[in-house]
Amino acid sequence: MNEDQLMAVEDAHLARVYQKFPIVFVKGKGAVLYDINGKEYIDCMSGYGVSLVGHCHSKVVRAIREQSEKLITCHGSHYNDKRAELLEKLMQISPKGLNKVFLCNSGAESVECALKAAVKYTGKTEIIGMVRGFHGKTLGALSATWNPKYRKAFQQMICQNMKFVPFGKIKKVEEALTKETAAVIVEPVQGEGGVHVAPDGYLQALRDLCTDKNVVLIFDEVQTGFGRTGHMWASQHWNVTPDIMCVAKAMGGGVPIGATIAKEDIMNSLKVGEHSSTFGGNPLACAAACATIDVIVEENLPERARVLGKRFKDVLEKMTEDMRVLRDVRGLGLMIGLESRIFIGNVLTRALKKGLVLLYAGKNVIRFLPPLVIKEKQLEKAAEILHEIFSEEEKRISQ
Ligand SMILES: Cc1ncc(COP(=O)(O)O)c(C=O)c1O
Repeated sequence: MNEDQLMAVEDAHLARVYQKFPIVFVKGKGAVLYDINGKEYIDCMSGYGVSLVGHCHSKVVRAIREQSEKLITCHGSHYNDKRAELLEKLMQISPKGLNKVFLCNSGAESVECALKAAVKYTGKTEIIGMVRGFHGKTLGALSATWNPKYRKAFQQMICQNMKFVPFGKIKKVEEALTKETAAVIVEPVQGEGGVHVAPDGYLQALRDLCTDKNVVLIFDEVQTGFGRTGHMWASQHWNVTPDIMCVAKAMGGGVPIGATIAKEDIMNSLKVGEHSSTFGGNPLACAAACATIDVIVEENLPERARVLGKRFKDVLEKMTEDMRVLRDVRGLGLMIGLESRIFIGNVLTRALKKGLVLLYAGKNVIRFLPPLVIKEKQLEKAAEILHEIFSEEEKRISQ
């Protein structure tokens, strides 16, 4: 099939739930993607934050190959060597006190388990989430996702005991809390909502409040986890430990896997049969995750995110000072948002033509989530392309 035929098949048969860009990617290495015609692209999107260790990292590829020749599936009702190895690795990098894990296949699933565990543990049913918060689109996770655009059609089917409060304002959480509140769920850095970093002191205040009121504190680190923000977990920027942490995206180096990592007594409140996943914790995904965690630790990728992120943010800040079309730069590590005064759909399309893959977060924010192995030269090239595009936009709006 040629390029047009391939796209026609997807358009005909894939659910129309994705905003599509007309490119067929067939190969990737590190921070570079290749389309079907062999054209190279610098990837500043990582498939929404997934390919954090780079596309097809040799160690991840080897782990998948070796495991696929041994055992691909093994249900959670039996023991498996790779699963045990992964759990040990997770325990080495997880915040102290979070020592019981449910393994699943995606971010939304990790949130589903967190919400159920919180409800079961507390015997209460209300959940407090954040305005602009994003936790996935399955019905449970969707209940905690704020954007009315995603919720509207399913309002009657999602959890009715949800309250949303403005992100960063502890008083609003205090006011929303009742005797029935089971959990507060929050992203330490809101991703989908536009890249908003928790203000200093906020997560600690949430921690204190939740401890005081016997409410489960859930940090959704699906996007921020595994070094993206400059620490293994974004919560480490403020030294705050939640009761439950949700992770996924980068965990398997591209292979679907997620985890809900909780305090033992909270996770233990879910009894046999009250939660499960057929694919959760399968050996293939566990092998990929083991290799991915090794790469993150051995290559010290959180530190790399911190250093490169700071440099890239400085460049974007300078651009923002110089150009009226740009409004703000925010973020931590290599999770950076560039807010524009214009709709950026067009910018994304033009960047693609120039060989740069970008991601949006809302109508006017570009979200940078490059692989942490990205080379400095590649980030410089990305900044150059952005400069070209926004300079053209600057001229256009001042005409
Ligand atoms: C913070 C956060 N939580 C949950 C999810 C849902 O993850 P998934 O798409 O793997 O279900 C996402 C996805 O973007 C996310 O950013």
